[in-house]
Amino acid sequence: MDSLEQLIDEARRAFAAATQPAALENEKARFLGKSGSLTERLKRLGSLDPEQRRTEGARINAAKAAIEGMLAEQRNRLAQEAMQTRLSAEAVDVSLPGRRREPGGIHPVLRTWMRVEEIFSSIGFDVADGPEIETDWFNFTALNNPDNHPARSMQDTFYVDVQDADGKPLLLRTHTSPIQVRYARRTPPPLRVIAPGRTYRVDSDATHSPMFHQVEGLWIDEDVSFADLKGVYTDFLRRFFETDDLAVRFRPSYFPFTEPSAEIDMMFTTGARKGRWLEISGAGQVHPKVVQNFGLDPERYIGFAFGSGLERLTMLRYGVDDLRLFFEGDLRFLETFSR
Ligand code: FA5
Ligand code: MG
Repeated sequence: MDSLEQLIDEARRAFAAATQPAALENEKARFLGKSGSLTERLKRLGSLDPEQRRTEGARINAAKAAIEGMLAEQRNRLAQEAMQTRLSAEAVDVSLPGRRREPGGIHPVLRTWMRVEEIFSSIGFDVADGPEIETDWFNFTALNNPDNHPARSMQDTFYVDVQDADGKPLLLRTHTSPIQVRYARRTPPPLRVIAPGRTYRVDSDATHSPMFHQVEGLWIDEDVSFADLKGVYTDFLRRFFETDDLAVRFRPSYFPFTEPSAEIDMMFTTGARKGRWLEISGAGQVHPKVVQNFGLDPERYIGFAFGSGLERLTMLRYGVDDLRLFFEGDLRFLETFSR
């Protein structure tokens, strides 16, 4: 075989054996580089006579073109292979099920909270808020519940290891009633407000939780009576439970901050739940000493207040009999309310 053909053959094998671009470029140098075999041959042309130089030059150039063609082909092949390897390494398995974000739902107690706000807003009540960590004065004293009064033991709570300006430890509020005081001290009468929020007590059983929710209500003007309380609260219950088939009873009770005081009980008068009185709320006419702590003259201003358990309202609305279910975070339970 002619030595040029041998060279072409050798280049074909060398290029085919190069499986990496760097190796291929090294092989290229061996044939086409500055001191590569073909280049050396071209250099030697000068020593030939003109006739031979022409034919030999043409043959070498043809060989060079052939080798360059094979080089380009192999470069192309290696680039394709690299692309294929990358594509399969970075492949996305489109048959894999995606990670979906399930739609959330509103917690049943929050749903009650929202309904209560909606109903009272519609009859002109403002909505107020207050701190969950309270001073002894707002939670107890201002509500006519002085130090060492036995009524304090009805509401044992959690204390914070920080003292207020009176040298008393801060505490987690036991009811939403301190918001009455905060709101009334900054709002001139006539005033109508509800205040829903989290409350805390050292309590734990099927109907009592250490953290629970109440909604406070307060209406102060010059002539707001117990009859107004009955009317407003009964109307609220009918709208909340979406039925007129319920009876409401005001049972005499005691709170230091109201006089007279009552527990509000209700009973469904039709349907599966009929026939049992259930306590919903504390209520009463605001005590003159509390009106004074509002910064108002009790000879002129009078009104009612109530404090209702939001879990209790929720349990009655949905027929749930253990309030702890609301706080366990079990989706099987919670999802039944979000559909
Ligand atoms: C009070 O807290 C008074 N502040 C209510 C009040 C306000 C009376 C204004 C007069 C004027 P009581 O301790 O009864 O009252 O609580 C009111 C409601 O909160 C109860 O009827 C009950 O529904 C709910 N409740 C009380 N303790 C718990 C608890 N540990 N877990 C869940 N709900 C509770
Ligand atoms: Mg009570």
